[in-house]
Amino acid sequence: MKKLLAPSLLSANFGNLQHDIELINRSEADWLHIDVMDGVFVPNISFGFPVLEYVKALSTKPLDVHLMIVEPTKFIVECKNIGAMMMNIHYEACTHLHRAVAAIHDAGMQAGVTLNPHTPVELLEDIICDVDLVLLMSVNPGFGGQKFIENTYFKIARLREMIERKQAHALIEVDGGVNLDNAPLLYSAGADVLVAGNAIFKSENILETIKLIRHK
Ligand code: DX5
Ligand code: ZN
Repeated sequence: MKKLLAPSLLSANFGNLQHDIELINRSEADWLHIDVMDGVFVPNISFGFPVLEYVKALSTKPLDVHLMIVEPTKFIVECKNIGAMMMNIHYEACTHLHRAVAAIHDAGMQAGVTLNPHTPVELLEDIICDVDLVLLMSVNPGFGGQKFIENTYFKIARLREMIERKQAHALIEVDGGVNLDNAPLLYSAGADVLVAGNAIFKSENILETIKLIRHK
């Protein structure tokens, strides 16, 4: 199991993104998690690709892009243009998920599939070998700072079992309500990558909190 950490830019100071991105560059964080929201798939709007052009120019960390939007395949070129390493699309937003994953790969990015808290991991049986990552939402997507949903541990265990049984290479990522207390439990439950927004950016010492989550 890897133990990677992806701070979520959604909780950064939007008044001074450059400062916070440069801080993450200097940190032990592995990826930078980018939450794009459209106000339709989720009841909130965050930022779009014109802003992410600047993020691309400033960040030295691989970009883990989480699209909380309808029709995410419309934005494959935009994701590619901002240098996304990982393009995460929601299972619930894709009628033709297999085609969408192939299109992301054709564009030269890794493909992640994201599941809302109510969506069972068993729905991935027939696509798990084709994806690079499964992002399990541990809150209902749309906002930072929400309470972690405990059923996520059960989903991690079932997904880990499926990945091993199918000899798939997909990483397991968990997003929402991750903090210093549950991070070690999530890594030992089988998560490879943790996303953390508020726990990092609202802490007193961002660099130290990142170090603590990764090494706890
Ligand atoms: C929520 C986003 C998360 C969010 C996590 O819809 O997908 O990435 O930024 O924030 P915290 O860690 O504060 O729950
Ligand atoms: Zn996210």
